[in-house]
Amino acid sequence: MKILSLESSCDETAAAVVEDGRLVLSNIVASQVEEHKIYGGVVPEIASRRHTEAVSGVVKSALDEANCTLSDIDAVAVTYAPGLIGALLVGVNYAKGLCMATGLPLVPVHHLRSHIASNYITHPELKPPFLCLVVSGGHSHIIEVKDYTSFKVVGYTHDDAAGEAMDKAARAMGLPYPGGLNLDRAAKGGNPSAYKMPHPRVDGAPYDFSFSGLKTAALNIINSANQKNEEISVKDLGASYISAVVRCLTENTEKAAIDLGYKTIALAGGVSANSVLREEMQSLCSKHGWKLYAPDLKYCGDNGAMVGAQGYYEFLAGHTAGLDLNACACMSIE
Ligand code: KG4
Ligand code: ZN
Repeated sequence: MKILSLESSCDETAAAVVEDGRLVLSNIVASQVEEHKIYGGVVPEIASRRHTEAVSGVVKSALDEANCTLSDIDAVAVTYAPGLIGALLVGVNYAKGLCMATGLPLVPVHHLRSHIASNYITHPELKPPFLCLVVSGGHSHIIEVKDYTSFKVVGYTHDDAAGEAMDKAARAMGLPYPGGLNLDRAAKGGNPSAYKMPHPRVDGAPYDFSFSGLKTAALNIINSANQKNEEISVKDLGASYISAVVRCLTENTEKAAIDLGYKTIALAGGVSANSVLREEMQSLCSKHGWKLYAPDLKYCGDNGAMVGAQGYYEFLAGHTAGLDLNACACMSIE
């Protein structure tokens, strides 16, 4: 079964053709990063306009690269929640137009479910159940993936998401958008113990996160150095900061995996590209004899292939929508 999939929840206009949920026949991503860079973050109105301009060309390229026409396609999958509402609407309306014109079934896909599915296209042998740490610009969740379309959130952030915390700290350190990626690069080889960072925990909720205190600690170090006319080492502060964020992520995932009895762990979301997180999670899993799965780097950020992968399993579960499908800015993965 071939699925044409669309993704437009934030600042990437993406489309792909995926066969049977696992085989990526094409994956086209048109990034708007350069345009948002001058504002230091994503401007929702600009994102929607750029999606509108890009979507037809991206879908055409995805079909061409897969050597397909619409008559080879069996269903259209689209990210419909959560995300920037104006941005989501572009993908949803385009997908609805395609389905109206062709009669193909329309498959709505939750954005975090598709991030988790980025592991299915990277690791053909991976099957639920497993425990997944989903860390993106807007979410930091520990999720029990009970089956392809059955999820339970066991840990979440009470304030900033891990990616958001990376982006804000990176910006304060003078690094350009996208902060998380640039912080990862700038901190390579830095001393993770150079700057003392707090280790935030959430009382009574051992799997939950709170990153806003860490972000404030980094800002205080930067402001205090500025006041004293002292130099900050972005390399060392970046390494200390990343190490503190990653410690929270790995510790809570370890607790959840032990308590809930999972020996298969997966990473997903934009922050799963972080080199320190990947290394630390690997050593944690090796220590316990657990198996770690992480998406190929090209599938960590937003892309269409992951939507096609999850769309396949949603379709098999009978989760299709009518042409009255709407986009939603907020929606639980459950
Ligand atoms: O999943 P994603 O592409 O979009 C959302 O669904 O939010 O995640 C974007 C987030 C941004 O906060 C970005 O800074 C972060 O992922 N990110 C990274 C790295 N690459 C992207 N954070 C840390 N290290 C990286 N290498
Ligand atoms: Zn995402």
